[in-house]
Amino acid sequence: MTILLASRLDAAERLQWLTLLRALLPHETIVDERPADAATSVDIALVANPPPGALQGLGGLRLIQSLWAGVERLLADPTLPPDVPLARMVDPAMSEAMAQTALWAVLSLQRDCFDYAAQQRRAQWQPWPQRRADEIAVVVLGQGQMGMAVRRRLEANGYRVLGWSTREGRWPDLLGDADVVVNLLPLTPATQGLLDARAFAAMRRGAGLVNLARGAHVVDADLLAALDGGQLRHAVLDVFHTEPLPPEHRYWSHPRVTVLPHVAAQTDPRSAAAIVAAQVRALRAGAPLQHLVDRARGY
Ligand code: NAP
Ligand code: GLV
Repeated sequence: MTILLASRLDAAERLQWLTLLRALLPHETIVDERPADAATSVDIALVANPPPGALQGLGGLRLIQSLWAGVERLLADPTLPPDVPLARMVDPAMSEAMAQTALWAVLSLQRDCFDYAAQQRRAQWQPWPQRRADEIAVVVLGQGQMGMAVRRRLEANGYRVLGWSTREGRWPDLLGDADVVVNLLPLTPATQGLLDARAFAAMRRGAGLVNLARGAHVVDADLLAALDGGQLRHAVLDVFHTEPLPPEHRYWSHPRVTVLPHVAAQTDPRSAAAIVAAQVRALRAGAPLQHLVDRARGY
């Protein structure tokens, strides 16, 4: 049987994955192009943001393993083979990267670092009152692998952290407790556009937004209005409706927006290949698979 790596990765990245996986799984056939007999020979697909239709016609599939944590694009592909277990990437190294990014963003908001960077460009000497970490309340949306890692890291650094997940109500009232809101929700029909004018109005005046999940959680026009009107002081955005962010987009030049190119927590093949290999061995041994997606819930 064959393992197919279906991705939009560039040639160097594909080679890195193939080299690592072939070393970890020396008895497996692992390819990054569909073989002629793919319809019957491919039983495992490793997917990294593949083009729609990439898995169509693979009649022998027994496992789809995403190399990304978020699987909303896969689930939106009407040709995704139904009834095949779909697993998402969960790697402690990714959670660590996410915790670092969130800590940097919250610390930078607390200590006015984005304002000081802007002031430097204007040669403006303007100190702001110094706030302690325990004076900053952070609401973390999503209490899964990423949200919990962020929550623990922020708490360890002295912030007051409130989490929110499907098990809790209070939307959007809980946002009123926040100096900073960090979004780590999966993108589903229930969470798309959740960060809208109503949510921004519920936040404390001058609060910060850190979106490290998906661009479609945010209604861009509402966020820009909230920033322009001063309801929000600053937004750190790693993810966007369209990626790469188009050059003409207002976020690029907005003085209250910091843009990152979807790098909050990248999959690192050096650790993630071992996680994929363990999943392949589990499938071959008939053992339980890890981190399966509930297709009905969308995450
Ligand atoms: P996860 O472990 O599945 O956790 C998802 C969390 O969101 C759970 O706490 C879940 O609640 C909650 N949730 C789901 N739907 C909800 C809703 N409608 N209302 C309130 N809470 C809801 O996911 P994860 O691994 O933490 O990843 C989260 C997302 O981060 C991914 O889907 C991806 O979009 C994003 N991400 C971004 C990057 C990046 O580099 N920017 C990297 C990795 C991941 P329950 O616990 O009650 O189910
Ligand atoms: C990155 O955004 C991921 O979902 O892994």
